[in-house]
This record gives sequence, structure tokens and C-alpha cells, in this order.
Amino acid sequence: MDRIRNALAWQKLDKLAALVKRQHMKDYFEADQSRYEKMSLDACGIHLDYSKNRVTEDVLSALLELANERAVSEKIEQMFSGVPINNTENRAVLHTALRNFSGKPVMVNNKDVMTGVLDTLAKMKAFTASIHSGEHKGCTGKAIKNVVAIGIGGSFLGPKIVTEALKPYQDKACKVKFVANVDGCHIHDVLAETDYETTLFVMSSKSFGTQETLQNTLTAKAWFLAQGTEEKDIAKHFVAVSSNVKAATEFGMDANNVFPMADWVGGRYSLWSAIGLPICLSIGYDNFREILQGAFEMDTHFQTAPFEKNMPVIMAMLGIWYRNFMGAQSHVLLPYYHYLRGFPAYVQQLDMESNGKTCTTDGQFVEHGTGPIIWGSEGTNGQHSFHQLIHQSNVPIPADFMFPLKVPNQDDTHHAMLASNCFGQTQALMQGKHFEACYDDLADAGLPEEERKRIAAHKTMPGNKPSNTLIFEQLDPKTLGALIALYEHKVLVQGAIWDLNSFDQWGVELGKVLGNKVLDMINGDIDTQADASTQALVAKFKNA
Ligand code: F6P
Repeated sequence: MDRIRNALAWQKLDKLAALVKRQHMKDYFEADQSRYEKMSLDACGIHLDYSKNRVTEDVLSALLELANERAVSEKIEQMFSGVPINNTENRAVLHTALRNFSGKPVMVNNKDVMTGVLDTLAKMKAFTASIHSGEHKGCTGKAIKNVVAIGIGGSFLGPKIVTEALKPYQDKACKVKFVANVDGCHIHDVLAETDYETTLFVMSSKSFGTQETLQNTLTAKAWFLAQGTEEKDIAKHFVAVSSNVKAATEFGMDANNVFPMADWVGGRYSLWSAIGLPICLSIGYDNFREILQGAFEMDTHFQTAPFEKNMPVIMAMLGIWYRNFMGAQSHVLLPYYHYLRGFPAYVQQLDMESNGKTCTTDGQFVEHGTGPIIWGSEGTNGQHSFHQLIHQSNVPIPADFMFPLKVPNQDDTHHAMLASNCFGQTQALMQGKHFEACYDDLADAGLPEEERKRIAAHKTMPGNKPSNTLIFEQLDPKTLGALIALYEHKVLVQGAIWDLNSFDQWGVELGKVLGNKVLDMINGDIDTQADASTQALVAKFKNA
């Protein structure tokens, strides 16, 4: 047995799971009128109702015991104080420094990193102002009105979902589009609609070595020059964000146009850094700063709230309960807010690239489950597709529902329907509908007895399906910052329980290496040492 499963609290939870699996959540609500009061909490503008979970008070306290036994507090402290907890790359993990408004220094190698953080923020602020005011002009003297942001993974998803989620805050002066995939359909479609005179390209790559981003930028640059512009015009239309400033300037970026980021910012944790430049250009610097403020407030909550009132800790430990004790393999995110529709894709990278691992920090392979599969989409669309499986299959899928009480341009009729669907789904998942109730309905409808039995079985809903509901007054920049930080910290806590390094991503590397070898085969000779399947696929491509 691996040592994590040896923890006393783990063994207690194993026993509790055997008990809880025989119980129904509906009975918990009937037995305890104060369940909702006990199992809900507020932090940083977010209300979390976790009462519709398959947990008893004993389970919750055992989960918090596990958090203590696994030294989660120490891990939190290590991250915030700049200890190199990314121990395979020997790096600190300090996205929290990017939104540190405490006025306190954050030391890495005896140096306060806050000076660099504040300098970069000042550079982003000044640049955004010069674009929005029209002071920065394109090569033909026109103001910049459009931005094409090129980047992938963490250099894309954060800015993309944030600008989408904050659509009501978008600055009419500047329209931002994103290109990530190396699939040429995307960049060529975007370029076809681009006016070179009024467009700024923001190339974002922490490493400045990512194939997709380099190629898309080369294509954009070639297209720009093909419009009759000259090399000297590039500086007015291309800027870069990178921790590899040298590679960016060697690539041809003007040194003044490179926005730096530190190596202690992980890609999937980087929207708070200069990677957030497209966000500033879309919604303005002041709104960007509000996002940071919201995240800072969640950081403070995470660091100071006792575990039983700590939102990221509670959500993380509920996830541990389902993943390690109740048989869940996935976790579904269901934002009931159109503008937040990209959030599941964002958390997919955040969570799965962080905790989709089986090797502990000291190099042992684990026997227990680790990061769940994260998926989902906006409500109510999912109700007319995959919710069927969540309701009636025997695969346990914990869900996070998200709902803003107020929306921009509020249409009360629509919003009431949206709310009723969201809350109604959590209720249906929790309570289900018994065979007898279905049978009685069919009897009332006059169905013959044999038919009643047969159809009632199909209509039976087991219920007992867990969900959290996250409610916010409205999804303003500050609340969005807090929401994203909440999920970041949830990932940290789960990684601490499983003893993973949540901040490297070695699993993506082999695919890159082999992809490059395949490209060599496509551009040159087929490697006869490669497996037969890959050789055949490449041959088909070459012969097409
Ligand atoms: O391949 C995975 C990854 O390294 C992510 O972790 C990262 O967010 C993305 O690629 C993009 O990397 P970069 O910002 O260095 O281009």
C-alpha cells in the first residue's frame, strides 16, 4: 500500500465510504433541517452551497483531518513564500506574487520579486493607455483598433476565457481575437478579416519555443509584410510576452516591445502576468487590476481561513472524497452563464495539466487515483445532451454549478428560467425519483399494469448525485479573479494530498518530440524504424 493511503484519516475515510455508499442524500436533508446552513459558506463575493454532497459531518471532519495529516498548511505557506515547490524544475511557484497587494515583499533567491512585478504592471498600463488613446499609431498613422493575440495553452486560455467572461466590460476602442491552433484554417480565417493598418499582434509564449505560436506568428508576419509594409513597420504592429526575452529579440521582436514574465510563473497560472496583456487591451487596465484584486482577496482567504471555512480547501477535499473513496473519475463544470462558457476548458488545463500525474514529489508511483477528468459546458445546453448520463448512469460524476444572480442587460424572464434550470438540476440530481413515484404517475395516466412496470423502470432516477453550487452577485472582474484563484488553490490542495508536483508538465513533452520526428518524415524520408501504423499514416499524408 502506498504511504498516502497509509494515513490514518485515509483509512477512516475508507470505512466511512462503505457506510455512505448505502445512504441517500435525501435522507440527510430530511434528518437535519440546518444542513444547508452548516454546509454553505461565503468568501470574496462567492457563495458556495456544498450541502448537496454525499457527505456527513463525520466525513467532512475526516477529510479535514486528512488535509492536516498531509500537511496542506505547510504546502500553502511554501507556495506563498517562494519555496521552489516545483522541484523537477527547481522553481518557485509564485503566481500569487503577481496579485500581491499586501505591500509585503516576496523573496526569491534573496531578491524581492515585487519590483519586477510592479514594473511590468506599469508597462502594461502605459501601453494599454497608449493604444486606447490612439497615441500609439500603426505604420500608416491610424490608431490601433484590433488585436490578434497569438499563443496556446496557458498563453491563450486565460486571456481568452477572461475577455469572453467580461464581455460587458470590453472597451469599444479595441477588439481582441485569439489564434492558438497550428491548424492554418484558424490563422488564415482571422487574417482574412484583419485590417493591417489598425491591428496589433500580441505574441505570447513563456518559453518562446512553442511550435504553434512561432509558426502562427511567422505566418502573421509574412502576411503583414505582404500588405506592402516594410520590416521597420513591424515594431508598430507586433509585441511579445515572454520569459525568454533573448529568443524574442532574436526572432525579430523590438526589445522595447517585449513584455517580460518570470520563470516562476507557470503557463497555466500566468494570466495574472504580462500574459494578461490582451485582457488589458480588451477591458482596460483598471478592470484587469480588479481581476488581480479579486484573486488577491481569495489568496488571503486561502491563507488565513480555518480549513472548515476555507473554500478552496473544502472544494478540494470534496473532490478527494469522490475521486479516492467514492469511485469518481471525472468532475463536471457547469457554468449557467453564457459568458463563462469557456471556464470548463480553462480549468481543464489548470487541473489536468497540474494533477494528471502518478509520480509523487520524491519519484514514487502512486496506487491511488489522482487528478480527475475535467469537462463540462454552459447550462442549459448540457441538459439537452450529456446530463442524461449524469442523472441515470451508474458512473458517479460530481458537478460544480455556477450562477450569477445578476447579468448585464438583464432580461428577467430569461434569467428566471436560467436560475430555475440551474437550481432544478441540482435538486433533481440530489433527490432523484423513485420507481414507486414513477409507477404511480403512470397509473394516474391510465397505463396498463405491465406497461407501468416496464416504463417506470426507465423513468426511475436514482438521485444521490453530488453537486456544489457557486453563486455570485454578478461576474464582475473582481469576482472572476476570485473564482479563478479558487480553482487554482483547489488544485494546489489536491496536489498536496496526492503528493504530486502540480507545477511541471513532463507528460506533454514526448508528443512534441515525436511530432517533430513525424514532421521530419513528412518533409523528408519515412523512418523505417518507426512503427507500421505511423509509417502508413505518414505515407497516406504524403500521397494525398
Ligand atoms: O505544452 C504545454 C505547455 O507548455 C503549457 O504548459 C503552456 O501553457 C503552453 O504549452 C504554452 O507554452 P508557451 O507559453 O511557452 O508557449
